[in-house]
Amino acid sequence: MSKFVPTEMSGCAEKLIRGRHATRAFRPEAVPEDTMHRIFSLAGAAPSNSNAQPWQVQVVSGATRQRLTDALQTAHAGRRTSVDFPYSEGMYAQVHQARRAAFGAELYGALGIGPDDHAARAAYDLESLRFYGAPHAAFLFVHGDGEVRLAADVGAYMQTLLLAMTTYGVDSCPQGLLSFYSDTVRTELGVNGGKLLVGISFGYADEAAPVNRVRTERAPVESTTAFHY
Ligand SMILES: Cc1cc2nc3c(=O)[nH]c(=O)nc-3n(C[C@H](O)[C@H](O)[C@H](O)COP(=O)(O)O)c2cc1C
Repeated sequence: MSKFVPTEMSGCAEKLIRGRHATRAFRPEAVPEDTMHRIFSLAGAAPSNSNAQPWQVQVVSGATRQRLTDALQTAHAGRRTSVDFPYSEGMYAQVHQARRAAFGAELYGALGIGPDDHAARAAYDLESLRFYGAPHAAFLFVHGDGEVRLAADVGAYMQTLLLAMTTYGVDSCPQGLLSFYSDTVRTELGVNGGKLLVGISFGYADEAAPVNRVRTERAPVESTTAFHY
């Protein structure tokens, strides 16, 4: 078998895909409208089953973003959670739980929050509902009744969007936590129907924040992928 010779495209893709990281502290500067338009247009190039493109995206900025973050914090304080896609810790296999624990230790370590410091962890949840200080957030809704299959399409859209953001120098954090308040998001944005899969905070990273230095590892390819010849 001949050896692959790196090309300009493969070099760019390696840099782009490996260069994206979750950002959890943002500067307040807004993303220019033109850049925003290019990013969301590019994200729309994501693949989907039969090209159905079953996503609906709500992007919040400015006063709407502020109103939404206030409403999310109120819902959180009143323990008013609402999920469209069921969640349980039990859905993870042991090997996945172990990776989650290692990630949690890394993240809270970078934040200087100890494993038993429940008050500090709760305060950090609030920061998360403030979009980590990001000036924008995008909410990805799944439309239709296809459930898992349509959600998979929206997952493909999500990764395409994250990479489109990286391409245009915009930092991001996908946040499953935001999907725990789907009724609040729908009400505040006047959205009817659709199921909320995930929210994505985005803007420009505060490079000085220690939390943004967290880097995650990946399992070796042999442990996740079988090649059949
Ligand atoms: C669907 C999804 C949900 C996530 N939810 C959260 C979240 O609620 N809060 C958070 O800080 N990060 C969240 N993340 C970010 C992951 O923790 C992060 O992608 C993972 O640890 C790998 O790190 P990296 O993105 O820096 O490569 C989520 C990522 C995905 C894809």
